[in-house]
Amino acid sequence: MFKRVTPEILQELEQIVGKENVIPPGGDLSAYSHDETEDFVFPPEVVVKPQNAEEISAILRLAQSSSVAVTPQAARTSLSGGALPLYGGIALSIERMNRILEVDQENLFAVVEPGVITQVLQEAVEEVGLFYPPDPSSRGSSTLGGNIAHCAGGPKALKYGVTKDWVYGLEVVLPSGEILRPGGKLLKNVAGYNLTQLFVGSEGTLGVVTKAILKLIPKPTFSKTVLVPFPDPESAATAVTKIFQAKIIPCACEYMERAAVEAAELRKGEKFPHSDAEALLLIEVDGNDEGVLDREIEKIAEVCMECGAPDLFVALDKEKREFLWAMRRCIGEAVKKLSTYREEDTVVPRIRLPELVSAIREISNRHGIRAISYGHIGDGNIHVNLLRGDLSKEAWDQKLDPAVRDLFERTLALGGQITGEHGVGYVQRNYMSMAYPPEYLDVLRKMKLVFDPKGILNPGKILPVEG
Ligand code: LAC
Ligand code: ZN
Repeated sequence: MFKRVTPEILQELEQIVGKENVIPPGGDLSAYSHDETEDFVFPPEVVVKPQNAEEISAILRLAQSSSVAVTPQAARTSLSGGALPLYGGIALSIERMNRILEVDQENLFAVVEPGVITQVLQEAVEEVGLFYPPDPSSRGSSTLGGNIAHCAGGPKALKYGVTKDWVYGLEVVLPSGEILRPGGKLLKNVAGYNLTQLFVGSEGTLGVVTKAILKLIPKPTFSKTVLVPFPDPESAATAVTKIFQAKIIPCACEYMERAAVEAAELRKGEKFPHSDAEALLLIEVDGNDEGVLDREIEKIAEVCMECGAPDLFVALDKEKREFLWAMRRCIGEAVKKLSTYREEDTVVPRIRLPELVSAIREISNRHGIRAISYGHIGDGNIHVNLLRGDLSKEAWDQKLDPAVRDLFERTLALGGQITGEHGVGYVQRNYMSMAYPPEYLDVLRKMKLVFDPKGILNPGKILPVEG
């Protein structure tokens, strides 16, 4: 279906971006052959590293006219296979487009290129007292472009929203080579369909983001963090529902079951407080009035104790707080080190959380697959890692899909979805027909055709493959 990258195409690519910004066939393509998803390896035929929208436009025009697949890539930290070049072709890496173009302190917007590392923007705006909240665990390595492509979440999504809530304008190159600029530094804008938001979370299948206008807010002055142990996952989940019923919105409310904490301890070589508890909640509140935060923490403690928490660990200083967060953020990588695994990303309405955590245990037991869960429980978003452990390859291959289907069936029945923040990409595409009826998928297919009639851009992602 796709054509190979011929010597003529290679030469044209070299003319567009400069020979030094191309890794040709036969070169070291290894880094561009995988993202952070399981152990998948799909080498591109060539890597190109353009510097601006015009170069990307020329690359896409060439790819479209010669029917070569193009996979946009940023830091390749995707957990759903979003950055895998499934059909070879061109890996279009935006790694050189990494400038913060503007921090507009009057209008409170940042204008960035897509290759800026998320944490780099966060630190830059914090220097002038501003705040860009979306904070995926990969924020030290993932880019804003990748975050936009996947509509990344993270712990702070709970109070501040996910990436989409901060994207107000984009510059995007379509597969045809045309450049669109939806949105702007405008807090209100209803002129036509909301194309800005359509591109957010489209996983690089509709266009390549080359610039983004991101909203900023003043940085809250204080935050308070507590770690709360629970005797079992259900009581932790129930406590979460009760915190919100008490009308408190923490800025983060994270869940770690015991096995997830053990994996983090193994990875970091350090002990977590209360790590013998079956489940832990890491809860943070922030704001500008310390007294209010203290009262919120008191109330949270009261609710948690009513739900069975025997104790509570208050992170009194910045070091303790940073330690807890570093441990929490490393869980994804820590679990990956344990075994071959499949990472699922369930999300349900918050009130259904106790049922979800019970269902996870029950499914894990029934299928004989070890599951390690953690995640953004305040958002109803729990990452469920299914581990191969000491199962034979054969047993794993046989058990995995039925277990995943079972997990998704239960998640959907609870009013949830098959992914909250990691995206559909390659790994979840065939479960989309569980998530949506045919007429819904048909609309998605038609939308893809409007932007990418020849299907050259990030092919094989999001939509289920026929047959
Ligand atoms: C996390 C990533 C895996 O929550 O989403 O750590
Ligand atoms: Zn997460």
